[in-house]
Amino acid sequence: AVTRDLTGRSVLVTAGGTREPLDPVRFIGNRSSGKQGVALAMAAAARGAAVTLIAANLEVPLPSGVRCVQVGTTLELQTAVTAEAASADLVIMAAAVADYRPAETAQSKIKKRSDSSTLELRLEENPDILRGLSHDRPREQTIVGFAAETEQDDAALFELGRGKISRKGCDYLVINRVGWTEGFATDSNTVIVINGGGDRVGEASGSKLSVAHRILDLVFAARWHPFI
Ligand code: C5P
Repeated sequence: AVTRDLTGRSVLVTAGGTREPLDPVRFIGNRSSGKQGVALAMAAAARGAAVTLIAANLEVPLPSGVRCVQVGTTLELQTAVTAEAASADLVIMAAAVADYRPAETAQSKIKKRSDSSTLELRLEENPDILRGLSHDRPREQTIVGFAAETEQDDAALFELGRGKISRKGCDYLVINRVGWTEGFATDSNTVIVINGGGDRVGEASGSKLSVAHRILDLVFAARWHPFI
């Protein structure tokens, strides 16, 4: 049986991947399925937390027993996160968020051009939601970010994670190797968790649900464990 150690806690999870529209029928997106984020939401709910899931274009069904808010773009995700975060004890930003969006969205389908064999797209930077959230957070709130990276070398992956957590300012960063066949869309995952000081606090490997529970153990133990 799962311990109900998150009873009375409020947990906000983002999952999936944002899509940035180019025109009414096309978008720039990523291959995040939302499985790890959904597993985190389900694990937190099973442990007694009141969970809100902000779901961006999931490839898996929305979980039951969790309040879900569906979003499409990064700006929509930002609006939803901003509205929901204030009341959360724990925020887990598992969604893969587009760093850029098309500078213009065409109101009708972009036509194939006969005068050129190339087409240029101009992109504009999206706000860094995690960074803003971490900067403005209430003192008691724990914020966990994710870093999906393609580096093969463990040391390089870790260094990248350390740089990222210091830029973002969150409490923990879950470093997740992704690639053509790893991380996104698979049923299992391997992650390293580091803290704000850049120290490795633990790792997890296995089904996305078991990885979810381990992540909750790591970030929960530090903040709320009654015996430490
Ligand atoms: O910088 P990078 O995209 O690798 O950072 C990943 C983490 O930051 C994830 O937790 C993701 O949800 C979050 N993020 C964000 N806003 C962005 C880009 C990423 O909140 N514009």
